[in-house]
Amino acid sequence: MPISPHLLLPRVPYARGLSAASPGGAESTAGEDAGAALPGDAELLAVPFAADLAPEIELPVPAAALLAHHKAKGEAGEIVEVPVANGDAVGRVLLYGVGDGSATALRKAGAAVARRGKGRDAIRIVLPSGPVAAFVEGALLATYTFRVGEAKSSPATLEFVGDGVEAEVAGAEVIAGAVALARDLANTPSSVKSPAWLAERAAERGVAVRVWDERELRSGGFGGLLAVGQGSVNPPRLIQLSYEPEGATGHVVLVGKGITYDTGGISLKPTSNMVFMKTDMAGGAVVIAVLGALAALGVRVRVTGLVAAAENAFSGTAQRPSDVITQYGGRTVEVLNTDAEGRLVLADALAYADAELNPDVMVDIATLTGAIGIALGKDLGAVFASDDELAGALIGAGEGSGERLWRMPLIEDYVPALNSSVADLANIEAGSTYGAGSVTAALFLREFTGGRPWAHLDIAGVGRSGADEGVFSKGATGYGVRLLLEWLSGLHDGDQGAVTRAGAVTRG
Ligand code: BES
Ligand code: MN
Ligand code: ZN
Repeated sequence: MPISPHLLLPRVPYARGLSAASPGGAESTAGEDAGAALPGDAELLAVPFAADLAPEIELPVPAAALLAHHKAKGEAGEIVEVPVANGDAVGRVLLYGVGDGSATALRKAGAAVARRGKGRDAIRIVLPSGPVAAFVEGALLATYTFRVGEAKSSPATLEFVGDGVEAEVAGAEVIAGAVALARDLANTPSSVKSPAWLAERAAERGVAVRVWDERELRSGGFGGLLAVGQGSVNPPRLIQLSYEPEGATGHVVLVGKGITYDTGGISLKPTSNMVFMKTDMAGGAVVIAVLGALAALGVRVRVTGLVAAAENAFSGTAQRPSDVITQYGGRTVEVLNTDAEGRLVLADALAYADAELNPDVMVDIATLTGAIGIALGKDLGAVFASDDELAGALIGAGEGSGERLWRMPLIEDYVPALNSSVADLANIEAGSTYGAGSVTAALFLREFTGGRPWAHLDIAGVGRSGADEGVFSKGATGYGVRLLLEWLSGLHDGDQGAVTRAGAVTRG
C-alpha cells in the first residue's frame, strides 16, 4: 500500500537523534497527530526508488512522470525533492535512488539522504529493502560534525521507518558511534590530547585498561616510545585495552600508532605538511574505538588493543638524527630521521605483544607514510601482510564494510634498505637505492613481529578527508573502525580454528 505523505506530520523527539520505528508505529502516531501545525518545510520524508522500483508514496504528480521529468535513473546517491502539502504548510518528499541495492549502494544512498537534512530539524526515512544496516550506517556517518565550542546548528534527527529492522539499526548505530569516537579523538586539537589524555579516553571504553607511564616505560625497556616522546612536555604512554569474552581461545592483538602530534622532531616538517599532524594518532583512535564496540557487537574472540602514544616534538630534549636507541626486546636502531617516528613506537608495541601476549594474529594500523597516499590516494587503505589468508580476510572485510584495502608487497630485495653501520637496523634508508618508503617502513615493522601472522594497515592516505563527501566529513575519517569490526565480528568461538580461518596459522 502506498505510504501517505501524512507521515510527514508527526514530530517525534528522539533524545539520541536516532530511532528505529516500525511502519505500524509511525502510522498510528501519524493518525494521532494528524492535525498538528508544523513550521513550513522543516519536515522531510525520504522514500526509496530505483530503475525497477517505483516509490511507494502518493505524490502530486504520477511518480513515473515525475522521475522522467527529472531524468532520474534511481542511482545510489541520486535524490529528487518533491514539495507536498503538509497540513497548511509545505513539506518535502525526498525520493532517493538505491542503485543496485548492494551494501555499497545503500551506504551511499544513506549518506546522500542524511546530507539533504542539513539545516533541518528531522528527516523521517523509509528504509530500503536489502542490507539496511549499510544504509543506516551511511546516513549516520554523513551527519558527523566536529566543532570546538558552540555548534552552528544541530544535525537533523534521523528517524528510520522499517519492519523488523531494530537489530540492524542498533548494530549500525554501534558501528557509526565507534567511527564517530575515532573521528572525535583524531579531530581533537593536540593542545588537548596528550598521550595521558588519550589514556584517559581509553579508560572510558568499558574494558580493562593498563597504562604505562614514562617511569614504567623506562623500567620496561620501551626505548622507542621514550626516544620519540623525550622532546615533549607531554610524556609518552603505552595503553593496553583488553577484551576477553568468555570461552574465547583465539587472540588478536591490534596495535595503533598514537602520535598525538608529529612535528617531525629535529627532522622538522614544513608547516604545510605539519598542520594535519594532529591526526597522526588516527590508528590509535581506531584501536580505542574498536575495543569499545566489541562487547555491543558480541565479538567472540579475545582482542587486546595497544596504543603506542607519544608526541613527536621539536625541542632541546628531542632525539637527534644519528642517535641510537634500544627498542623493547633489545634491538638497536639508528634514528637517521626523527620524522620516521611512527615505526619506532609501533616496534616497541609489536615486540611487547610478541614477547608477552602470545597473539595468534597481530594487526597494526597507522598513519605511517606520506608515500602511501601517493601510491593509493584517498580512497584505498594499504595492507601489508606476512600471511596471505589474513590479508585476504582483511581485504574481504574492507569490501564488505566500505573501507577498501589494497594489498602492498613486502619486497624481500629491499630489506637491505634497513641496514645500519652502527646499529641492528636503521629507521630509514640511508641512501636512495631502494625508495618505496611505505614498503621499507612495513619491512621495518616486520622485524618486530617475531614471525607471527601479522598485517600492517597504512592509513596515512585515507585517515583524513579534505571535504564533506559521502560518508566522510572534513577532517578525520575513522578509517579502519568499520573494517576491523567487520573482520572481528566474523571470527568466532572456541575451536582454535576461529582465528585460523581468518588467516592465521595456529601457533603452539
Ligand atoms: N605521520 C607521518 C606520515 C603522514 C604523512 C601521515 C602525511 C599523514 C599524512 C609520518 O610520521 C612521517 O612523517 N613519515 C615520513 C617518513 C619519512 C621520514 C621516511 C614521510 O612519510 O615523509
Ligand atoms: Mn613523522
Ligand atoms: Zn607520524
